[in-house]
Amino acid sequence: MHHVLDMRAALLRWYDEQGRSLPWRVRPEDRARGVIPDPYAVWLSEVMSQQTTLAHAAPYWGKFLAEFPTATDLANAEREIVLSMWAGLGYYARARNLHKCAGVVRDEYRGVFPTDQKTLLTLPGIGPYTAATIAAICADEATNIVDGNVERVISRIFAYQDALPKGRKALRELAGTLVRADRPGDYGQALMDLGAGICAPKNPDCDICPWAEWCKAHAQGQETLYPKKEKKKTIPVRHGYAYVLRCGDYFLVEARPDQGLLGGMLGIPTSNWGEKPASHNAAPQTKDGHRNWQRAGEIKHVFTHFELRLDVFTAETSDRLEGEWTRESAGLPTVFKKVVKLAQKKTGPSGPAKS
Ligand code: ADE
Repeated sequence: MHHVLDMRAALLRWYDEQGRSLPWRVRPEDRARGVIPDPYAVWLSEVMSQQTTLAHAAPYWGKFLAEFPTATDLANAEREIVLSMWAGLGYYARARNLHKCAGVVRDEYRGVFPTDQKTLLTLPGIGPYTAATIAAICADEATNIVDGNVERVISRIFAYQDALPKGRKALRELAGTLVRADRPGDYGQALMDLGAGICAPKNPDCDICPWAEWCKAHAQGQETLYPKKEKKKTIPVRHGYAYVLRCGDYFLVEARPDQGLLGGMLGIPTSNWGEKPASHNAAPQTKDGHRNWQRAGEIKHVFTHFELRLDVFTAETSDRLEGEWTRESAGLPTVFKKVVKLAQKKTGPSGPAKS
């Protein structure tokens, strides 16, 4: 496979000239000046940017690094603070694992973040992608970095026939045939950049692609046929009620149980979520008993395995009795931000609209 070296050289040349500048990225020219990437900062960036765009993740990364400059600082922080700073990034098990992982690094690695793939894989929340990426970027380990963008690039280069997710493992092995010891961190990030930009899902810009001459899908004029995908099962819909109990600008929130979806996050009280709407038994009560709940409308939110529709009810109370009250939805998961916003639209930010 002599052209592997040509392909790598072409990609790295393209990356040197046109790779993205990202807040956490040490560009080749800086690396050449001796700037060493901080594995803790790289780890944060990689965990945050899974399942979302880098533009969405970037401000979170800046906030976390400013607040917690080292793994030990993060480990020493209250978990509730870490979770509320994560709010809006989704997949909250990742935030819980993030905090746990920082604790392991503090306690078992004297606060020094590991950089070899084998050790990284033993840490909470670090899977094959994250381990491979940190090891390549921070320790020049020749790992096989494969994210969703890379899967698309590789499937097109090889005109890979098997549908994902079944064909995923063999596709990763194909990607592995291109791995070499030369600049592994830059190579992996170049491949991700190529997938994020030029080798786009819908309209790939093959005219300027550094790999066009080696791309089988391009030779067939069938770029967008790849990666082939198994038909998606449609996800089920679940229903529930959400209750925004207001007192002036404040509304009642509660910590969700540790186990389960959004575990440990602050949320708006809800009924159980199920196939059929539940009873109203979960509606918050205060000393003046049942209040006059008004329906504000419905919000939808798509989780990985189901779509949630919450019928939002809102009521006003005159005093903040027991429970946790807040005026800020910033620390809530996105689904509850939607709920609060809808209730406020119905009533105005400070109390029910007088008619
Ligand atoms: N997506 C997530 N992490 C990335 C990185 N380091 N380079 C390019 N794209 C990415």
